[in-house]
Amino acid sequence: MERVLGSLLLLLTLVHASPTTPEPCELDEDSVRCVCNFSDPQPNWSSAFLCAGAVDVEFYGGDRSLEHFLKRVDTEADLGHLADVVKSLPWQRLKVADARVPAAMLFGVLRMLGYSSLKELTLENLDVTGTTLPPPLEALGPNLNTLSLSNVSWATGDAWLAELQQWLKPGLQVLRIAQAHSLNFSCEQVRVFPALATLDLSDNPELGERGLISALCPSKFPALQVLALRNAGMETPSGVCSALAAASVQLEELDLSHNSLRYTADAPGCDWPSKLNSLNLSFNELEQVPKGLPAKLRVLDLSYNKLDRKPRPDELPESPPQCVRSWL
Ligand SMILES: *[C@@H]1O[C@H](CO)[C@@H](O)[C@H](O)[C@H]1NC(C)=O
Ligand SMILES: *[C@@H]1O[C@H](CO)[C@@H](O)[C@H](O)[C@H]1NC(C)=O
Ligand SMILES: *[C@@H]1O[C@H](CO)[C@@H](O)[C@H](O)[C@H]1NC(C)=O
Ligand SMILES: *[C@@H]1O[C@H](CO)[C@@H](O)[C@H](O)[C@H]1NC(C)=O
Ligand SMILES: *[C@@H]1O[C@H](CO)[C@@H](O)[C@H](O)[C@H]1NC(C)=O
Repeated sequence: MERVLGSLLLLLTLVHASPTTPEPCELDEDSVRCVCNFSDPQPNWSSAFLCAGAVDVEFYGGDRSLEHFLKRVDTEADLGHLADVVKSLPWQRLKVADARVPAAMLFGVLRMLGYSSLKELTLENLDVTGTTLPPPLEALGPNLNTLSLSNVSWATGDAWLAELQQWLKPGLQVLRIAQAHSLNFSCEQVRVFPALATLDLSDNPELGERGLISALCPSKFPALQVLALRNAGMETPSGVCSALAAASVQLEELDLSHNSLRYTADAPGCDWPSKLNSLNLSFNELEQVPKGLPAKLRVLDLSYNKLDRKPRPDELPESPPQCVRSWL
């Protein structure tokens, strides 16, 4: 077990920590959640073994660079003998944050996690450096259902999603990318995400409608049902509609809250996705109900806009009796 975790964390050196420094890792009373904060200049890395029996595991790197560890790790090694031990780890959710990590190390960790039953992976405030390993023939990484990235930068620029995707098995259902450094994907290299139902591109204020077109790689998200674009620099409902049409994305739910949407009367007409039944336009700058909304909706949220009166029924889409319609 010690050996596995050492490899998993790629923390192979046991730096001599002074006895006065606090233990970096803490396991909660139920042994469910384990959090390690390695911000100390000389942390006790072996404290991480405490997390071997936890379900939710979080590692914070204190903004340190892990580059020097790479020299000690053989990322091409045959890991077959570790498989059984990694399979026995109860980890379901893993968060890795606040570090500078070589891509080869990150993908080496994903490869090892391929033996685990990990379901959710979160990467936050990471600077992923260097080039990657040659792509594997088949996806060897974990069978995640949720991948969340926030403020992760990649030396490979626009190719990052295609490269990361090669290390994931194809069952991903939820993908969240916030504070992205690039969403201008190299779409021809991105493979189909056959099971992806929810794409959340919220908190990318620079994205805008133009950026949305390049982020929504055509025909790569055939199972998409929910698109979240909170605080994503969207300007007009019709502009978003045109971007969705250009990328031919089919959707059921669209969250456009917390943008600066305005209605412009001269905007060209546009067909919304035919199955769209929920539209959240709250926290925007709409002064009237935009014309050209989908003809039928189950949910329409217009609250926290600049509407000066309650909309008339003929201004609103048709909706079934149990619908949610909201305005203030
Ligand atoms: C880690 O510990 C440092 C020093 O105690 C603290 O400043 C920092 O906020 C902690 N980070 C996290 C993510 O808890
Ligand atoms: C480092 O952590 C391990 C595991 O929790 C512990 O056994 C060891 O005593 C710690 N070493 C120091 C120097 O604190
Ligand atoms: C983003 O991540 C980098 C490390 O890659 C960090 O230095 C920076 O402070 C983070 N920015 C925010 C807004 O958290
Ligand atoms: C997006 O990438 C394309 C090439 O794939 C490039 O021509 C274009 O300038 C890029 N756009 C932005 C905003 O960087
Ligand atoms: C719309 O979005 C806002 C803010 O993101 C949220 O508070 C609200 O619950 C959403 N409305 C519906 C009907 O889900």
